[in-house]
Amino acid sequence: MTAAELVTITKPDDWHLHLRDEIALKTTVPATSRVFGRAIVMPNLKPPVTSVKMALNYRSRILEHKTPDSSFNPLMTLFLTDNLDPKEIVSLSNEESVVAVKYYPAGATTNSDTGVTNIKNVYRIIEKMAELGVPLLLHGEVTENHIDIFDREKVFIETILAPLIERYPDLKVILEHITTKDSVEFIESQSSRVAGTITIHHLLYNRNDMLVGGIKPHLYCLPVLKRNIHQTSLIRAALGGNPKFFLGTDSAPHARLEKETSCGCAGVFSAPAAIELYAQFFADHNSLSKLEGFASFFGADFYGQPRNKEKITLEFKPWRMPQQYQLGDVPTVPIMAGEAINWQLKDSSEK
Ligand code: NCD
Ligand code: ZN
Repeated sequence: MTAAELVTITKPDDWHLHLRDEIALKTTVPATSRVFGRAIVMPNLKPPVTSVKMALNYRSRILEHKTPDSSFNPLMTLFLTDNLDPKEIVSLSNEESVVAVKYYPAGATTNSDTGVTNIKNVYRIIEKMAELGVPLLLHGEVTENHIDIFDREKVFIETILAPLIERYPDLKVILEHITTKDSVEFIESQSSRVAGTITIHHLLYNRNDMLVGGIKPHLYCLPVLKRNIHQTSLIRAALGGNPKFFLGTDSAPHARLEKETSCGCAGVFSAPAAIELYAQFFADHNSLSKLEGFASFFGADFYGQPRNKEKITLEFKPWRMPQQYQLGDVPTVPIMAGEAINWQLKDSSEK
């Protein structure tokens, strides 16, 4: 077997993940714990995770379902609301399994109704976070009706993010699931306290893939796929070896029937093939040597977490993604359903 058909990297982490809850955890947790060492678990449950106590309870439910023998370590986040008590930030900073706070503008995406209505309402919380070194994770889209959906990330940077960083220069900030050239350039221009995660679907697809020849609801996610010049910029950022950009899948399953309907939910369920598709993406760009930094080092370094010690090996060995997975008894369609994927985990018994 030639080197190009095999790659061994330090165990990766997923710095942005939706696991959902209850019976769905039986499917979503092993899909990630089979290969990732840690994951930053999003708090947009119903009701959202708004206290350290809730986060730790959620973490226990997750751990019940991890792959046996895996050392999977879910790192929890709190959902920022206008009313979050700054005391929660203090207790978070004393709790090693709860590591960040997630900012959703109210109404921006799935289960975000109780998100922040005005950034000024949470200044006192953010101030505490900057003081205690707690990272703020941002869903970076404005929600005003008159702003075009394709411009919402750019306008967020201009009107919310840039002023926020100016006001709190010590705050650690991650712009999650970036989708635009504007985000790439903004992050590049900032200090080492500002980083961005990049999903596999924003690297593989642009809005043509979602809209030409008919709407593909399973590619609909937020922030929505953009035009190809933005995709090109994300590709450059992911391959470029800049530690400000790292892996966050934003794997976000929804029931098949809630995606294939007249008002479909946003989210791509990518966990069952996430690392395989990132490997395929880096290989297709002749950049497999850059996979490890992006997938296994830069995120850990940014969060101040130790790099994982274990290794994983991926090999070029095509397999076919199932048409659907069951989340409990709910059929859920994964990324690239029914299509061939070239890379797989070596000796992996899970598929
Ligand atoms: C996410 C979800 O379904 O929870 N959806 C998505 O399209 N990415 C929420 C989010 O991260 O925006
Ligand atoms: Zn997300």
